[in-house]
Amino acid sequence: MLNLEHIDKTFYRGTVNETPIFTDFNLTVEKDQFISVIGSNGSGKSTLLNIICGSLPIDNGCLLLNDQDITKMKDFKRSEFIARVYQDPAKGSCASFSILENMALADNKGKPFLFKKAVNKDRIDFYRTQLEKLHLGLENRIHDNVGNLSGGQRQALAMITATLTPNKILILDEHTAALDPKTSEIIMELTNEIVTEKKLTTIMVTHNLKFAISYGNRILMMHQGECIIDKCGDEKNNLALSEILDKFNEISIETGN
Ligand SMILES: Nc1ncnc2c1ncn2[C@@H]1O[C@H](COP(=O)(O)OP(=O)(O)OP(=O)(O)O)[C@@H](O)[C@H]1O
Ligand SMILES: [Mg+2]
Repeated sequence: MLNLEHIDKTFYRGTVNETPIFTDFNLTVEKDQFISVIGSNGSGKSTLLNIICGSLPIDNGCLLLNDQDITKMKDFKRSEFIARVYQDPAKGSCASFSILENMALADNKGKPFLFKKAVNKDRIDFYRTQLEKLHLGLENRIHDNVGNLSGGQRQALAMITATLTPNKILILDEHTAALDPKTSEIIMELTNEIVTEKKLTTIMVTHNLKFAISYGNRILMMHQGECIIDKCGDEKNNLALSEILDKFNEISIETGN
């Protein structure tokens, strides 16, 4: 279980540009939850993910993972149990390395290792099996540089590499946003398969309301650093798209957008 307790976060504190994002923000994420996070631009979704991953320090409050205080834990340490996939397919892999090298790097995350030793024959077969699941033929291109792949192929590879080692939490920040409609459906379905198979606690930020409604077992809508919709299980399943759209309209009238 992940707990965010009494989180305060303000950017540019003490300057004319002071931007408070979170004030006494609380969130409990249960182990079996797959949460879709929606909300308007600038509502604090990515900031929330950055706080969870440790890429941004908080001003006050604490983060607990299974009752262990991880507030002061550095991001690279947290990456041992938190996997993350970004919006930009280029961020999830190294373009000048081959598929095989990228997989070997991901496989040895957090360990000191020698490249040649890390890439062994048994592991190559394992990598090929993982790639076969994508049905993109990448298992036959393991020596190709990742820079030659399309955005969708790279994002599929990023999903596989991010979840290659055992993780507890999967963080997705608009990971299908840069993809065409068909490819984003494929990556979303792949995501769901990985989350289910590996039993990952997942927080997925998306602007795709169809994905937010159809996938996962909890939905959060954020606005100005607060959760203005939070529905789980059947309550989420019964949530109509029109209800969410009404809420978006309400917000935009309120904020004058
Ligand atoms: N590192 C930072 N330094 C200063 N301000 C920041 C930083 N990161 C985010 N902000 C500000 O915090 C607010 C929330 O940004 P955030 O990126 O969390 O929004 P978001 O909900 O992810 O929006 P989007 O849907 O556009 O991705 C914005 O006003 C943004 O400018
Ligand atoms: Mg964002």
